[in-house]
Amino acid sequence: MSSLQGKTAIVTGASRGIGRQIAERLAALGAQVVVNYAASRETADEVVAEIAAAGGQAIAIQADVAKVEDIERLFAETIERLGKVDILVNNAGAMTNRLIGEVTEADFDRLFAINVKGTYFACQQAMKHMGEGGRIVNFSTSVLGAMMPSYSVYAAAKGAVEQITRQLAKEFGPKGITINAIAPGQVRTELFTTGKTQEQIEAFSKMNAFGRLGEPDDIAGAVELLVGDRAHWITGQTIRANGGFN
Ligand SMILES: NC(=O)c1ccc[n+]([C@@H]2O[C@H](COP(=O)([O-])OP(=O)(O)OC[C@H]3O[C@@H](n4cnc5c(N)ncnc54)[C@H](OP(=O)(O)O)[C@@H]3O)[C@@H](O)[C@H]2O)c1
Repeated sequence: MSSLQGKTAIVTGASRGIGRQIAERLAALGAQVVVNYAASRETADEVVAEIAAAGGQAIAIQADVAKVEDIERLFAETIERLGKVDILVNNAGAMTNRLIGEVTEADFDRLFAINVKGTYFACQQAMKHMGEGGRIVNFSTSVLGAMMPSYSVYAAAKGAVEQITRQLAKEFGPKGITINAIAPGQVRTELFTTGKTQEQIEAFSKMNAFGRLGEPDDIAGAVELLVGDRAHWITGQTIRANGGFN
């Protein structure tokens, strides 16, 4: 296990799902963690309490990553309360599952605001505030490789996240900061299960090499890998943490 003692991490969208597991894992490794959320204050407070009960350190900060002023406040408040930012996990994300004829302008704008604008401007804050040894992990999706109907807007937004990750690697490199993306396959969270029948969930479970759905803990392991000291030579990459989904 890599130690994150003395590090401070912001995990966006950490009130539930994958982000919650990442926050708990980073805290267990010794980092002080900011549990960011947009609306779910109660569950974010639960995550903080759980981390504290396990002997870790965390605070919750509300910020809607679709708004640049909220992202700026998230970083300012983190620095004011915890002193610095070493790790940024741009996990907050939103999905829509609609065929092109059903997609609205509001769907499109919301998905790009949360997934793309949120990721981009959080990276801008990291450029301003993060120092040598910093780590950024963005979130894409393995749906990108599957050309599945009804995921066009989501995949377009995550495609932009992957390209942002590649583009920014050479801007962050001179500062000694790595930036990578993780592209999970199907993971058992609200985002994945909402609107799907049990049959659909079972069908998805059979699409990877292990014949089961991914769990948030599987993805937290990939984040642990990328934020550790030994990952210092990995940058600009997208890791398809998907159990061999194709
Ligand atoms: N689950 C999967 O199968 C899967 C597969 C591939 C990629 N991913 C990606 O993995 C990431 C995490 O997904 P998940 O499945 O854990 O999602 P989830 O269960 O829906 O949780 C989403 C989290 O993001 C927060 N959030 C949503 N909008 C936000 C905003 N505007 N500002 C700040 N926080 C916001 C939510 O908090 P509030 O309740 O407070 O809004 C919640 O904590 C996403 O980027 C997703 O696209 C997931």
